[in-house]
Amino acid sequence: MTEVALTAPPSAHAAARPLPQGADVSSCEAGTATDEIVVLDYGGQYSQLIARRVRDCGVFSELIGHSAPIEEIARRKPRGIILSGGPASVYTPGAPRLDRELLSLGVPVLGICYGMQLLVHELGGRVEEAEVGEFGRSDLRVLEAGTLLRGTPSEQTCWMSHRDSVFEPPPGFTTLASSSASPVAAIEEPKRAIYGIQFHPEVVHTPYGRDILVRFLTDICSCERTWSAASIVDEQIARIRAQVGDGRVICGLSGGVDSSVAALLVHRAIGEQLTCVFVDHGLMRKDEGEQVIGAFRDTFNVPLVAVDASERFLARLRGVTEPEAKRKAIGAEFIKVFEEQAAQLEGTRFLVQGTLYSDVIESGAGAGSATIKSHHNVGGLPEDLGLDLVEPLRMLFKDEVRAVGTELGLPERLVWRQPFPGPGLAIRVVGGEATAERLRILREADHILQQEIRRAGLYRELWQSFCVLPDIHTVGVQGDERTYGCVVAIRAVTSDDAMTADWARLPYELLETVASRMMGELREVNRVVLDITSKPPGTIEWE
Ligand code: XMP
Repeated sequence: MTEVALTAPPSAHAAARPLPQGADVSSCEAGTATDEIVVLDYGGQYSQLIARRVRDCGVFSELIGHSAPIEEIARRKPRGIILSGGPASVYTPGAPRLDRELLSLGVPVLGICYGMQLLVHELGGRVEEAEVGEFGRSDLRVLEAGTLLRGTPSEQTCWMSHRDSVFEPPPGFTTLASSSASPVAAIEEPKRAIYGIQFHPEVVHTPYGRDILVRFLTDICSCERTWSAASIVDEQIARIRAQVGDGRVICGLSGGVDSSVAALLVHRAIGEQLTCVFVDHGLMRKDEGEQVIGAFRDTFNVPLVAVDASERFLARLRGVTEPEAKRKAIGAEFIKVFEEQAAQLEGTRFLVQGTLYSDVIESGAGAGSATIKSHHNVGGLPEDLGLDLVEPLRMLFKDEVRAVGTELGLPERLVWRQPFPGPGLAIRVVGGEATAERLRILREADHILQQEIRRAGLYRELWQSFCVLPDIHTVGVQGDERTYGCVVAIRAVTSDDAMTADWARLPYELLETVASRMMGELREVNRVVLDITSKPPGTIEWE
């Protein structure tokens, strides 16, 4: 994974924004499919989630930095603006501020947590540090439902995460609700269309959060809830056609959901102008290569060059034991193979990349710049391939990419594939060389684990599940013989984004089946252990 920081031109978001075919942003009318809610990011941990939830409710939403120029926000003609939470205190010098002009755009504004405190502070209410902070589940008492809380119970739970509290609403505002630690937990001023809630409607622990968001989107912002990830397939196809014309396009397929969905979308758009290249580096899991080739070549008739480069990669990995050296060797070899293939496809002008929205937005956007992550599932392609990028997933979150994949008929196995690192099994043969033999043992052990996890119906619940083969042998007795065999470690984690992870509490019966199958079916293995490390302090992978 490489990260390139660059300053996004003010029009960058709008340029990539999904529009119905032929639509013109400047002429958007109320209630068209292009209704958009802008979420201003004040650095809260749930900021991205707000945009995702709004999209879940059927309205397109983008997250942009809180310091985005007012003209940029106005140019989008949003139907509403949401101010996110954030870690600062409104009364601290240097804390992110609210541009008062935002309130003159004639667009409803909803402040969440820090966003609400900002509104209160700017408009003459009182925000102070409370004696006790409020973190986690809290009881909310609705005093007056107003417009925002209409239809929700007078007693409900919600999720809070704040130390400062609002003690007095600004003049003209109605206090709608309070909680034990927040005397003013929800406010509104319908005449000026300004609303605020101290709690987080975007998290699942706020049971009526979705209702409140829907109320804001429909009754207050008059949005039509017509947006869906699947609904953008047609417009993306039009965009791709407009971008590439009759040019030739190449796409590196890794077997991951991002490159698979990107490839299928591009194929839908331009058919045989696309050639996919699948480099089998011999470090995939059992049968994975065949599944990718089967789906793309046989089911979807996508022109596909499949290169079996496993011997080359094994040769390149000979004697390489240090983790970063392995990654570098695999990355460099991958680029070489890909370039060789690209060179044979004369006249290629475009390269498809499965960049996602979460790769594009980073908190850096707050400073007026966007950090673009070029994330490649297999190795990383250099910037100087001399090809223009086609990035049809740039506006989508991962779950939306899966929805598009399903819409396009991609097999369930590819749509729901757990993340798999580019260097593959090579970095799971830990503390030693990735030899053909060790890769074989690991691949077979991993296959047993995957089979049993799928059989138990747990595959989708886990962020990742895999085996590790450390470079140690342990003593055992198998049959009447003493053995000196391999140890397989089982690693299964739950996570939302791989930044943090918890070890999965797999059922004992499942672990028992997996362990006895591994030791029974793989004669080299005489010990199976379970990794119970969370991240932090551990990482998900072992090297
Ligand atoms: P860690 O081990 O840092 O992993 O907790 C976080 C996520 O990144 C994946 N990972 C990689 N992905 N190339 C990749 O494409 C790599 O070299 C690499 N190393 C780790 C890991 O599987 C997890 O999802």
